[in-house]
Amino acid sequence: MKSFADLIRERQSVRRFDDRPVSEEIVRACIEAARLSPSASNAQPWSFIVVNEPELTKQVAHATFDKLVPFNKFVPQAPVIVAFVIEKTKTITRLGGAIKDRDFQWCDHGIAAAHFCLMAAEQGVGTCMLGWFNEKKVKKLLAIPRKKRISMLIAMGYPPDDYHIREKIRKPSEAVLSFNKYDIGR
Ligand SMILES: Cc1cc2nc3c(=O)[nH]c(=O)nc-3n(C[C@H](O)[C@H](O)[C@H](O)COP(=O)(O)O)c2cc1C
Repeated sequence: MKSFADLIRERQSVRRFDDRPVSEEIVRACIEAARLSPSASNAQPWSFIVVNEPELTKQVAHATFDKLVPFNKFVPQAPVIVAFVIEKTKTITRLGGAIKDRDFQWCDHGIAAAHFCLMAAEQGVGTCMLGWFNEKKVKKLLAIPRKKRISMLIAMGYPPDDYHIREKIRKPSEAVLSFNKYDIGR
């Protein structure tokens, strides 16, 4: 079994998928990881729509790019796309967020998405979080009520055999870390 540190190193955005389908069991395990993730006041302001019917999956995939923004053109290769829908939070969390000017729901979704993708990585399945998509179109395709928001889509599938784990491109820790006082970029 992989260590958590290995999983963090090996999880990467996968932008090529082969023809292998992803089993419902694996998709459910990833959803379970997201479902068990923490959220502000334990409000769990989410629902997850799994799109695995091939024709519908293609239609949703085609709502993630267009002529002007072509970078998600790989998404139609994904056999599964999961939509993270923002659900109503608790009143106390909403009020707290408004008073403190913090959007807890979007934070919660980020954490849930990380859990999802790490679980997929453990199963050998690749994922790519997608923040760029035509939300109106996707909501229509999936019958998501107009007033709700989709925080992100996650494309998932098996990377081809020649897909390698890339070196992570990240700011060095000296550029993002300080102890006891803010000492960044000085
Ligand atoms: C909120 C969010 C939105 C993203 N949207 C997209 C997207 O629309 N298309 C895409 O190809 N990658 C997208 N990504 C993936 C990032 O580009 C990627 O995580 C980042 O470059 C780091 O690379 P890695 O995931 O391989 O470690 C998104 C990631 C996050 C967290």
